[in-house]
Amino acid sequence: MDTTIKIMSLVGARPQFIKLAPLARAVDQMNQDPASPNLQHVIIHTGQHYDYGMSDIFFDELGIPHPNINLGVGSGRHGVQTGKMLAGIEEVLIEQQPDLLVIFGDTNSTVAGALAASKLHIPIAHVEAGLRSFNRSMPEEINRIVADHISDILLAPTPTAIQHLQNEGLSDKTISSGDIMYDTVLHNVQLAEKKSEILNGLPVGKGSYAIATCHRAENTNDPQRLRHIFETFNAIAERGTPIVLPLHPRTKNMLPNVLPDWRAHENLFVIEPVGYLDMMQLVHHARLALTDSGGLQKEAFFLNTPCITMRDETEWIETVEAGANIITSADPDRIMEAYKYWMRQEAVDFGEEVQKFFGNADSAGRTLKAILAFLNEKTLSPTI
Ligand code: UD1
Ligand code: UDP
Repeated sequence: MDTTIKIMSLVGARPQFIKLAPLARAVDQMNQDPASPNLQHVIIHTGQHYDYGMSDIFFDELGIPHPNINLGVGSGRHGVQTGKMLAGIEEVLIEQQPDLLVIFGDTNSTVAGALAASKLHIPIAHVEAGLRSFNRSMPEEINRIVADHISDILLAPTPTAIQHLQNEGLSDKTISSGDIMYDTVLHNVQLAEKKSEILNGLPVGKGSYAIATCHRAENTNDPQRLRHIFETFNAIAERGTPIVLPLHPRTKNMLPNVLPDWRAHENLFVIEPVGYLDMMQLVHHARLALTDSGGLQKEAFFLNTPCITMRDETEWIETVEAGANIITSADPDRIMEAYKYWMRQEAVDFGEEVQKFFGNADSAGRTLKAILAFLNEKTLSPTI
C-alpha cells in the first residue's frame, strides 16, 4: 500500500515565498522521522511575480526547493491574471491529484488556487487565514474572504484572526497556528547579520535610518496619495533621517507617469528590491519603518523597529495595540507627526508583546500537524 501523502503548495508573489520557506523546511524535517508518513511536497508557482529579485532570489536564499511547475502567468488586469491562473492550476491539479493544496495569504494566486481546488473537491489549507481590513475596495480583502470560506483548514495567525473567523461562522475549521512569518524571521535574522553586505554599500549608519516600502494599489494608483507619500519621504530625508527605499516594480513603473516632476532627495536611497537577508538586515537595524506592506509591519514588530503604516487601516491590529505601529493613511501631516513621535523615543521594547499575539515561531510545524490530522480523519474538531 502506498502511504505517501502528496501535499501541494501554491505560491506566486514575494510574500508567499517567504511564508512557504518554513513549511518546506518542516516537511523535510518530518520526512527524516521514520515514524512519520512519507510526504511528497510539490510546489506550483503561478508566475505572478517573475523578476529574479521578486521571485527566484527567495528560493535561492531561503533554501526553498525550486517550483516543480511554473505557470508563467505574469502581470495583467485582475480578471485576466486570475482567470489564467485558474485554468493553469486546474490542469495541474487534475494531473497531479494532490491530497491537499496549501495556499498562502491573500493575493490573486491565493484565490485562484482556492477556486480551482474547491471545484475539484481537493481539500485546501489556508495559511494566514482570518485577516480582515473590512475594506472591500482592497483586492486582497476579497481574495481572503473567498479563500477562507472555501478552504477546509484555516490556519489563523493571531487571536484577532481567530475572532474574525468565529464571527463568520468558520470556527469549526479554524486552527490557532501562530504566525508563519515569525518562523521565517527568527530563522534568518542571525544569518542575515552574518551574510548580508547591504549596509556596507549604503551611506547610512545602523540605528539612524528609515527603511521604507510602498506598493499597495490604493497608494500607487491614486496620484494624490502617491505624491503625498513620496513628498513626505523627501521631507523626512531633508530633516536628516536617511531613507532606504527598495522600490517595488509596480511603484517604479508608476512613478515617472504619475509624478514626472518628482526627484529623490539626496538622503533618500531608492534601490532595486532586495533579497530576504538584505531586507532582514535593513529592517533589524533601522530606526523606523515606513510602509504600506502587510508583512513588513509584522517584521518591524518582531525585530523591535517602530513602524508607520501609510494605509487607512491595518489587518495587523495587534501591532498598533502593542504601541509598535502608527496608522497614518497617506496623510503628510500624520506621517510627519508619527515620524517625530518615533524620533523622540530613545529606546523601544516590543519583545514581550510579540509572542502574546503571534505565537512561538513554531507555526510551520503546527500547520503541518494540522494538515496531517485533517487528512487522517478528514474532519476537524473545533479548537475554540
Ligand atoms: C501583489 C498582491 C499584493 C501583494 C504584493 C506583494 C494581488 C492582487 N496583489 O501586488 O497583495 O502585497 O503582490 O508584493 O495579488 N511587476 C514586475 N515584475 C514582477 C512582478 C510585478 O515588473 O516580478 C510589475 C508589473 O508591472 C505588474 C505590477 O508590478 O503589473 C504589479 O504586480 P502584481 O503582481 O499584479 O501586483 P502587486 O502590486 O505585486
Ligand atoms: N521584502 C523583501 N525585499 C524587498 C521588499 C520586501 O524581501 O525589497 C519582503 C519583506 O521583508 C516581507 C515581504 O517581502 O517579508 C513583504 O512583501 P510585500 O511588501 O511585497 O507584500 P505584502 O506583505 O504587503 O503582501
